[in-house]
Amino acid sequence: MVPQTIPARIRWAVDILDVQPADQVLEIGCGPGYAAELICERLEKGKLLAIDRSESGVDRTKRRCAAFIEAGRLTVRHIDLATLRVPVKRLDKVFAFNVNLFWVRDCEAEVALLHERISPGGGIYLFFEVTEISEVPRIVENASAALVKAGFRVAVVESKKPAVIGLIGRR
Ligand SMILES: C[S@@+](CC[C@H](N)C(=O)[O-])C[C@H]1O[C@@H](n2cnc3c(N)ncnc32)[C@H](O)[C@@H]1O
Repeated sequence: MVPQTIPARIRWAVDILDVQPADQVLEIGCGPGYAAELICERLEKGKLLAIDRSESGVDRTKRRCAAFIEAGRLTVRHIDLATLRVPVKRLDKVFAFNVNLFWVRDCEAEVALLHERISPGGGIYLFFEVTEISEVPRIVENASAALVKAGFRVAVVESKKPAVIGLIGRR
């Protein structure tokens, strides 16, 4: 099967993530593996742990990014974020695109877990495709509130084309 082209929304978000060669990165909800591919291309000494609670998401990322797994740059796990086990202050960057838990429900426990695991100076980058412009204020309000409550300093970034809203929480 021919791999699908990486969408512009993912390219824009990964550019904002500004991956450095030695970064330790976590991607939540890797799905098709688009972002995982772009992140791994930028890593040298660094590593990406990509997780998804869906088996098909894990399989798709593993297929798309097989060469990076082989090279030891990528690990893909079939787990829910709530059960993530990573040593504290280990991660430089956490990335998620279109993972709605951060604005549709109470995610205090998950965000607190991530705050503990991100090293000082690191950050969490949450991106959402804007399909309904009227939803943007609620996305920003809910996701920001969750990040601030855990102790992150929040900035909002936006692109009109591709239509994406992003929240960056710095630790
Ligand atoms: C809408 S898809 C987005 C996939 C990909 N990030 C993209 O933008 O193309 C959301 C993905 O997040 C995963 N997901 C949602 N909640 C999760 C959680 N709590 N832990 C791990 N994965 C989760 C889903 O299984 C799904 O694969």
